[in-house]
Amino acid sequence: MENNNNKKVMLSGIQPSGELHIGNYLGPLRHWPEMIDEFDCYFFLADLHTITVRQDPAQLRKRVLTLIAQYIACGLDPEKCVLFIQSHVPAHSQLAWVLDCYAMFGELSRMTQFKDKSAKNADNINAGLFTYPVLMAADILLYQPDFVPVGEDQKQHVEICRDIANRFNGVYGDVFKVPEPYIAKVGARIMSLSAPESKMSKSQPEGCVFLMEKPEDIMRKFKRAVTDSDTERCVRRAPEKPGVSNLIQIYAAATGKSYEDIESEFDGMGYGKFKPAVGEAVVETLRPIQEETERLLADKAYLEGVYRAGAEQAEYIASKTLRKVYKKVGFLPR
Ligand code: TYM
Repeated sequence: MENNNNKKVMLSGIQPSGELHIGNYLGPLRHWPEMIDEFDCYFFLADLHTITVRQDPAQLRKRVLTLIAQYIACGLDPEKCVLFIQSHVPAHSQLAWVLDCYAMFGELSRMTQFKDKSAKNADNINAGLFTYPVLMAADILLYQPDFVPVGEDQKQHVEICRDIANRFNGVYGDVFKVPEPYIAKVGARIMSLSAPESKMSKSQPEGCVFLMEKPEDIMRKFKRAVTDSDTERCVRRAPEKPGVSNLIQIYAAATGKSYEDIESEFDGMGYGKFKPAVGEAVVETLRPIQEETERLLADKAYLEGVYRAGAEQAEYIASKTLRKVYKKVGFLPR
C-alpha cells in the first residue's frame, strides 16, 4: 500500500508483552477501526520492544499470535490497513541505530517510563530499556505518519520522536514528517480498579481487566473496585473521587454516553448499583471481541497470511525511508 493518494497516514503499535487490557482497548485501540477508511493505516505488534524486560520465548510467540487475532477481532480489517509484526521488518532496528546517534543521553534519561521501569526491574536496567524511545521513534518515522494514536502514557515518547525528527531534519533537510500524537478525549488514561491513583497496567493484575477475561471474573473485579468514603456514595466525577471518576470514564468509553448523562442516570443510586452496571457494560463490549478472537485463533493459516502480507507492505515503505536516511548520512550504497 503506497501512500500515493491524498490520505493522511496513521500508525500505532502495542507491545505483546502481556495480555491486552481494557486500558489498551478503551484508550487507543477502540478508535483505530474508525480511522481505517479515512487514513492510510499501519498497525503493528511491537515485539522488539518486549525484550527490554525478560520474556518467556514460547509465551511471547503465543501472545503475538493472540494479539494479531485481537487486532482483527477489534475491527482492524487486514484488507483495509497494514497489520504487521515489528521484528519482521528489519528496517526498524536499522533506523533505530542511526537515530541512536541523534538522540541525547540527557533527554532519554528524563523519560518517565524509563525511570518507572528501571525502578521496577532494578536487576535488569539494560541499554535497550534506555534507548527504547529511539526504537519507537524509528517505528514511527519509517512510515512518515501524520498522526500517532496512543494513550496519555505514550505522549512523552511521541514528543521525543518529534524532537529527534526535527534534529535530524535540521541537519539533512526534510527527511522525516514530524508526526502529532493523537489522544482520545475519553479513555486516554484508564486507572487501576484496585488503586485508582495509578494507571491500569498488566503489572498489577488485580486492578486490571484483560480483554479475554471471563465475564464472572470481570464482574468480580468491578464489584470490588475501590471507590471512596463519601457517605452519600454519589456517582460523580471529582478529583477527590479517583475511583468513581475512573469507573465513569470506563462506562463512558464502553457505552458512548456522556459524563453528564451517566451522572444523571445513576443519581441517588449509590455505588452498589453503579459498579455492576459498569462491569456489565464492559462484559458486553468485550463479548463479541472475545468470540471473534477465539474463532480467528483456530485459523492459524489465515493469521499467518495476514502478517506475512502485512510485513511485505510495511517493508516496501520502510525500506524506502531507510534508503533515503542512509544516503543522507553518507553510507555508500551496496
Ligand atoms: P503499550 O503496549 O504499553 O500500550 C499500548 C497502547 O495502550 C495505551 N495504554 C493505555 N491507554 C489508556 N489507559 C491505560 N491504562 C493504558 N495503558 C496503555 C498506550 O498508551 C498505548 O497507546 N511503546 C508503546 C508501543 C509502541 C508504539 C510504537 C506505539 C512501540 N512503538 C510506535 C505507537 C507508535 C507501548 O509500550 O505501548
